[in-house]
Amino acid sequence: IQALHIVACGTSYHAGLVAKYWIESLAQIPVSVEVASEYRYREPAIGPNTALVCISQSGETADTLAALRYAKERAPGYVTTIAICNMPGATLVREADLRLLTNAGVEVGVASTKAFTTQLAVLYWLAVVLAKNHGRLSQEDEQAAVDRMHRLPQVVEQATSQAEGIEKLSFDLVDKAHCLFLGRGVHFPVALEGALKLKEISYIHAEAYPAGELKHGPLALVDEDMPVITVAPDDHLLEKLKSNLQEVAARGGELINVVADHVHLDETDVKHSVKVAGLEGALSPIVASIPLQLLAYYVALHKGTDVDRPRNLAKSVTVE
Ligand code: AGP
Repeated sequence: IQALHIVACGTSYHAGLVAKYWIESLAQIPVSVEVASEYRYREPAIGPNTALVCISQSGETADTLAALRYAKERAPGYVTTIAICNMPGATLVREADLRLLTNAGVEVGVASTKAFTTQLAVLYWLAVVLAKNHGRLSQEDEQAAVDRMHRLPQVVEQATSQAEGIEKLSFDLVDKAHCLFLGRGVHFPVALEGALKLKEISYIHAEAYPAGELKHGPLALVDEDMPVITVAPDDHLLEKLKSNLQEVAARGGELINVVADHVHLDETDVKHSVKVAGLEGALSPIVASIPLQLLAYYVALHKGTDVDRPRNLAKSVTVE
């Protein structure tokens, strides 16, 4: 495989965006990620030895299924099609050439949560396997990836144990009409997902931006009524992110941070933060998603909206 096209909707699309960072850096294979409702109505250029990956919790999403069928009709086509899905008997699973099941169990709530984190886990493995097959992974690096994955449940457990602190942060958002999520690098799609979770279940208008885009527009929105939620992992972009936080603080924006446990942020900038372990290394996007899911959950709970069945939304979007 020399290239991957990833197609999905909503949260599954965000998982695909995270995968792009992983696959391109580990395997050096170009990856494009697109929402299925756009892909199915255009004429994508398919290069040689390109695989299509469709990600869907339900495997019944109309646009994703239509994208798979459309892709299969195209010539010259894909070398293979892969479904990443949580439902073993789903149409997507049956119609794709290959399948990777996330095995998260039945997800009751309309908002995708454990489906998302398990999609990420599967996509990380895919990145590792592709890197190995392309001769870009030493045996030590492969072992390190395996060890990292084995430790993941424990790290996620630690993140969920921060629930009390996250619930306290949630009170800052309950009465707000809008908020902004910022992230950099592989944590930008995590910010997108955090914003989607919040708007879905609490009906607060939430937008996510790559933090480096602040000055290109969204900074104009920042004032004391605009909470800005950021994930500050311990990575190579931390210093860049810190200066973005200062830009927000200087405009009176209320910063709410999910921060790596050993990272120090200037307290004059950050009003509220919760420290989380495991926000470093390759799997940080999986861990960072948990506090944002919990934040959306507590905001919805305290606003009194229906956490499991948000208005106007269906678990599986089987019509266009
Ligand atoms: C996620 O919280 C949403 N309910 C929604 O965006 C969902 O991810 C999207 O409809 C795609 O669903 P799928 O993964 O079942 O294809």
